[in-house]
Amino acid sequence: MSDILTHVEAGVMTITFNRLDRKNSITAAMYAALADALEAAAGDASVRVVVFQGHETVFSAGNDINDFLQQPPAQEDAPVFRFLRAIATFPKPLLAAVCGPAVGIGTTLLFHCDLVYAGDNAAFSMPFVNLGLCPEAASSLLVPQMLGYHRAAEALLLGEPFMAEAALEVGLVNRVVPPTEANALAQSVARKLAAKPLASLVETKRLMKQGQTDAVLRQMREEGACFGRMLREPAAREAFTAFMERRLPDFSRL
Ligand code: COA
Repeated sequence: MSDILTHVEAGVMTITFNRLDRKNSITAAMYAALADALEAAAGDASVRVVVFQGHETVFSAGNDINDFLQQPPAQEDAPVFRFLRAIATFPKPLLAAVCGPAVGIGTTLLFHCDLVYAGDNAAFSMPFVNLGLCPEAASSLLVPQMLGYHRAAEALLLGEPFMAEAALEVGLVNRVVPPTEANALAQSVARKLAAKPLASLVETKRLMKQGQTDAVLRQMREEGACFGRMLREPAAREAFTAFMERRLPDFSRL
């Protein structure tokens, strides 16, 4: 079965991360499938709302570390960058249901969603510094805006996880429910949205976001250049090798 499942019903496209044996970590091929799905959904009148979901136990472990080491994204048309531009500019409502770990892009993509529902086991983390990298998905802009600078510094410099209740408190999620209920809650809200006039949804989202979109895309480009460079440097190599070898990284000489 595919690692990315898409299903359209009653105006709602549901995109499911379906790579449980790798904790729903995302490969370049999966980013391409995600970008294709969003680009198609944007232009398809039968899709009015999109929902991202994972599994009750894990949303996504972020970038697939092996895949990133083997084929680091270099060009602006790399699948990961296509996906980031697609979530930043997606015109219709974008929802997410998040349970378990949401690492890296698993958390940063949520800053581009309009509504987020979390299981009480959700654990959000952006450990870019711990991996010898820098933030992506315009998180260096959007996280300070939403969390305030000092909490953003805690999340992005220390890279420590924060749980669903903390995410609710800072406004990253709309509601926390038992993990068995998160996907169903997102679906029921998506259906409610899908029954509303699409043009009003699209114009309202555009008006809420328009002052910000250019800055987000600019930040994504700058982060992307930085991220791509750092991915090839010794700190990231050490962090990724340590993860694969199940040991702590040693940055003492880096
Ligand atoms: N890339 C590639 N493989 C990954 C992965 C990733 N991001 N995350 C998990 N996996 C693999 C593990 O290597 C392991 O493989 P194995 O069964 O061959 O040993 C398998 O998925 C299960 O992961 P495991 O770490 O044993 O699960 P866990 O429940 O103990 O922990 C996480 C789950 C998500 C907390 C943990 O896997 C993790 O921290 N992953 C890395 C996250 C990360 O740094 N992502 C990059 C962000 S840029």
